[in-house]
Amino acid sequence: MPRKPPSRKGSFADVPKDLMQQIERLEELFTIPTEDLKKISAHFASELQKGLTEEGGDIPMIPTWCMSMPTGYEQGTYLAIDMGGTNLRICEIILPEEKGEFDIIQSKYRMPEELKTGSADELWGYVADCLQQFIEYHHEDEELDQVPLGFTFSYPATQDYINHGVLQRWTKGFDVDGVEGKDVVEPFEAALKERGLPIKLTALINDTTGTLIASAYTDDLCRIGCIFGTGCNAAYMEKMGNIPKLAHMKLDPETPMAINCEWGAFDNEHKVLPRTPYDIIIDKESPRPGQQTFEKMVAGLYLGEIFRLVLLDLHGNPDCKIFENSDVAKLKKAYTLDSSFLSAIEEDPFENLVDTHLLLLNTLDIDATKPELELCRRLAELIGTRAARLGACGVAAICKKMDWSSCHVGADGSVFNKYPHYKARWSQAMREILDWKKEQRKDPIEIRAAEDGSGVGAALIAALTLKRVQEGNTAGIRDPHAMLQGTKASDEKSKEVED
Ligand code: BGC
Repeated sequence: MPRKPPSRKGSFADVPKDLMQQIERLEELFTIPTEDLKKISAHFASELQKGLTEEGGDIPMIPTWCMSMPTGYEQGTYLAIDMGGTNLRICEIILPEEKGEFDIIQSKYRMPEELKTGSADELWGYVADCLQQFIEYHHEDEELDQVPLGFTFSYPATQDYINHGVLQRWTKGFDVDGVEGKDVVEPFEAALKERGLPIKLTALINDTTGTLIASAYTDDLCRIGCIFGTGCNAAYMEKMGNIPKLAHMKLDPETPMAINCEWGAFDNEHKVLPRTPYDIIIDKESPRPGQQTFEKMVAGLYLGEIFRLVLLDLHGNPDCKIFENSDVAKLKKAYTLDSSFLSAIEEDPFENLVDTHLLLLNTLDIDATKPELELCRRLAELIGTRAARLGACGVAAICKKMDWSSCHVGADGSVFNKYPHYKARWSQAMREILDWKKEQRKDPIEIRAAEDGSGVGAALIAALTLKRVQEGNTAGIRDPHAMLQGTKASDEKSKEVED
């Protein structure tokens, strides 16, 4: 791949020299050449390993107590909550007899901004209220009894048990007081109890683990679940024998254990990631400086902000001074642009970038000149490409660590699903890092849009958990007796079908 890929739309022919110099400077700052990708990925692999040791490292590598892959024959009715960065989603999932099938009904609730920086009681109260509304709407006058619930809580939570999780720290701009360092299940269950809801939390899961399990439900070759969305992270199945920090549990070394990597924290030590001055500002001004270094360069929450900071910097730069005749008040407001803004710029099909012009005018009151539009276009490409290439470093690292030369990766999240060219850029980077030969027509490691990990994945993990508790495997289960009480635990689908 050429070091600096040419811009697909627009041309730099009419870009004045001072602006062109800035574009070249940005290309230098944001382009990660193959050799650097390889170095980053190699360090990533050793950090993944380190995270599994007693001593630990930047990457938390959290054992999740999800201890098997689905067979496709899981069965039953489950509730799931998906508490992501933007919305709260409540689902009811039915896993029927047919292999790999599911039915889902769901409702979305907006996650009010105030809640993200409010109090713990308000947060859990709101989640429980939404669940109550959902039950009242879909099951009016029905007698429900201890319906098993999978709760997708997509933040780093240390799990001594699958039905327990101590929040290490908030990410993705959340900053709710009194939650960090505490079990999130306990106050949530208390809120359910207060409302008399007939629900039993069976599994607290991460969205990446859900994505892994939901994808594996329909795809036997899926080995990794990834989220490239508001935040960024991955999960995969490890063997107990490779997790020194769990050696004291004395479980069979061959036992599988899903690991929620929490790789957003990669390189908090700042050893290999080529951070730009803009990445440094993002970190400094975030609610948790020094944390989630990798995530802050690749996740959707930050892409628009990086873009904004660059433009603001250039506006104030006496050497080029962009947007001279516009009021940049709106551009001065932090986090006004999200990654969909960059997507829209990259999607502008017109050579004269008219859509981009309108977008800047409507969103920011900026009446950009043609050369300024060229700069915006190139900048969006650079930021989007860097995110995809760094995302590939993480997956390549897991594959190297596990010695997987071919597999499928189930991926979800707004950046993966909606950002133009993400998949192609990601695959190109994988090719460079792993030295895939040109003759290899099909990518040996293939990224695919995942099944709904936070809904179906949560239900499946609840089903797998109930099943193993019924079978007497209570490792990593808090109060196994209570977990089975009253629940219609899932029976595995008829073996005849499988055979
Ligand atoms: C969180 C992870 C999550 C990821 C994707 C990160 O900010 O720490 O737990 O998996 O976002 O949602």
